[in-house]
Amino acid sequence: MGKWASLSAAGPGGLNRGYPGSPMEGPNPKNHGLPFTSPWLLAPMEGITEPSFRDLVLTENPPRAEAAPGPGTGPAPGTERPWLGGAFTEFVRVVTDPLPAWKLREHLGPARFPAPVGLQLMGSDLSALAATALRARDAGAPLVDLNFGCPAKGAIADCSGSGMLRDPARLERTVRAVTEALPGFPVTAKIRAGFADDSRLEDLARAAEAGGAWMLTVHCRTRVEAYCEEVDWGRIARAVAAVRIPVCGNGSVRVHADLERMRRETGARYAMVGRGALADPWIFGGRAPTRREAAEFLLGYAGVLRERHGARLSGTAARVKQLLRYWTAADLLGPDRASWLREEDPERLFVRLRAAGGVVSPADSSLASA
Ligand SMILES: Cc1cc2nc3c(=O)[nH]c(=O)nc-3n(C[C@H](O)[C@H](O)[C@H](O)COP(=O)(O)O)c2cc1C
Repeated sequence: MGKWASLSAAGPGGLNRGYPGSPMEGPNPKNHGLPFTSPWLLAPMEGITEPSFRDLVLTENPPRAEAAPGPGTGPAPGTERPWLGGAFTEFVRVVTDPLPAWKLREHLGPARFPAPVGLQLMGSDLSALAATALRARDAGAPLVDLNFGCPAKGAIADCSGSGMLRDPARLERTVRAVTEALPGFPVTAKIRAGFADDSRLEDLARAAEAGGAWMLTVHCRTRVEAYCEEVDWGRIARAVAAVRIPVCGNGSVRVHADLERMRRETGARYAMVGRGALADPWIFGGRAPTRREAAEFLLGYAGVLRERHGARLSGTAARVKQLLRYWTAADLLGPDRASWLREEDPERLFVRLRAAGGVVSPADSSLASA
């Protein structure tokens, strides 16, 4: 059984053990009420930050023994500690009916960690969204995040996700509907820098603030820019200047040093990592893993997927390959990433991973017997 097997039950600490800064302790008044335990956050990613991957990243980036948010205003520059301070579920779409609590619990997963996992919702029906947010809180979510960045055509068609970026007043009403339904409970918003261009960035940031958001995450690309290589962190600085609530910067954090650099260059209080964490799940702490640790992470991920979802070996391999598209940790893949992605036989893929990492026995017995 792999070292992460226990995650599928109650996580390394079991359910709600009340770690320092954990959701059990409630909103942290020293940190604008936000429950994050450090300034570095794992981005919501559909199909990826479901519990299987998310829990492994949280496990690999535990708080340091001396972990405590800086006094007074939270993790002020210079007092920050390098570990993972919070994560998010993938977006959960709300259409016309409030989602059932069991569905929300499924997204939150059974494990609890020192760092909170916010539940991200996306929708445009205000009453359904507000009712779902209430259920999310009651289901144990330590905070609710609202998605105003999803570029999918379906989201734009019903004016949710990035569709909302064309209408700051509507974005404000949406945030307000949720914050008014959840007084005293952290509700955050995540936007892109704009829809077609960034000319309304300040309006959007102020709209989120006026609606009552506790924190604003700015993915610094516009919807039209999709996931382009070039990014302008100056847009994050513009949002910081426009609002008084904490801002979380996001976009092209590739290595550990970029996290603090983003905060320094933009004034953002938090920095969020998306694909950089798929390349290197240890990016938050900045520790270089060994090849063996890198291979064990990927094999452990496969094991958890099979154990949790009963995923077929081919489906499991496809999910692992999703990470391999980005993977850089410990240079496990060597110079020929394409050959890994071309590997069609799942068993051969896992054998190659074990060989690359010098893993003698399989990280998870379910893979061995598959
Ligand atoms: C595969 C994938 C899925 C994503 N799913 C979501 C999502 O569910 N909710 C969301 O707000 N953003 C989502 N995003 C956007 C990321 O949260 C983040 O804003 C974006 O990747 C930019 O950060 P990065 O340059 O560090 O990757 C997704 C991105 C990727 C690559």
